[in-house]
Amino acid sequence: MTVAARSSARKKGLDAPDPAALLAWYDRHARVLPWRARRGARTAPYRVWLSEIMLQQTTVKAVAPYYARFLDKWPTVEALAAATLDDVLRAWAGLGYYARARNLHACAIAVVERHGGVFPETLDDLRALPGIGDYTAAAVAAIAFDAPAVPVDGNVERVVTRLYAVEEELPAAKPRIKELAASLLPPRRAGDFAQALMDLGATICTPKKPACVLCPWSEACVARARGGQELYPRKAPKREGRLRRGCAFVALRADGSVLLRTRPDKGLLAKMTEVPGSAWTHDFNVADAEDAAPLAAKWRRLRGVVRHVFTHFPLELTVFVAQVPRATKAPKGARWVKLDAAGDEALPNVMRKVLAHALDSAPSE
Ligand code: ADE
Repeated sequence: MTVAARSSARKKGLDAPDPAALLAWYDRHARVLPWRARRGARTAPYRVWLSEIMLQQTTVKAVAPYYARFLDKWPTVEALAAATLDDVLRAWAGLGYYARARNLHACAIAVVERHGGVFPETLDDLRALPGIGDYTAAAVAAIAFDAPAVPVDGNVERVVTRLYAVEEELPAAKPRIKELAASLLPPRRAGDFAQALMDLGATICTPKKPACVLCPWSEACVARARGGQELYPRKAPKREGRLRRGCAFVALRADGSVLLRTRPDKGLLAKMTEVPGSAWTHDFNVADAEDAAPLAAKWRRLRGVVRHVFTHFPLELTVFVAQVPRATKAPKGARWVKLDAAGDEALPNVMRKVLAHALDSAPSE
């Protein structure tokens, strides 16, 4: 919907959404979050950026301990830039989508090298940094610097598409949603406005059963007036990538260690830790699985599969487990790691699932 169409929706007698009403609601109901400054104060750009990168990954609740741990280890952007990528990946492990962790590290280095360790304030300069797209640039500019920008994430898309009953489907509707969101920006308090939109989307304008009676914009909401809030945002049907399959081998040595290796430097989950296994392919045949075994042992195939969904494809792994003697040497490219130290490895979620599946089923000695 163009801005012209937006005003035609308003002709049907609804109030225009008032940014001041949302800010007044935020003043009363803002969530208390670790990266959020008290009223009238601003969070340091490093903290805003770190939290926003993490929040693109998962929920507020899941991010909180990671955010605290990162700040504890690396209290400044200089400290993060000086860290090794391996340490950053290890601290990120479990949040998923490791390209973000790589970009996080690259961005810290770029802020130090290009900007003397001071985050730039303009959208263009922010967007030129690794891993910073339109959303993060707008979030940092608005929240850290009170610059006139509206970050549009999934929550904000939901609020805006309902407010204006945007019929166009995502993702094609994104430019219009951004235009509509920007048109709501109040003359002051851009940072609070951005966070108010996010909170409204997270706590009131929820995907299912939105709490419209509590919403400061309920009288202005076109979707509500028509009675179809949950129909927005309209979405084009998602095309899931094709299923890939493979197998994973969990070798457990009698001294309480597990055989691990590091993935290649490039590609999916680059440099992360994994148990040995086959390639993940569309035509994997489990009958050939043992060809990929890292060492000769009595491999026991576990029932079922471990399922994991990556951004571009779902994966199913058949897991094999073997108990091997204490003297067993690690084959080339692999290493024995004590099970109680495996948590310190950069183990992606899919490998955590594989280990959990194997250890659940392993007979105790
Ligand atoms: N989701 C993403 N960024 C957020 C923020 N700054 N506050 C609350 N929720 C968020």
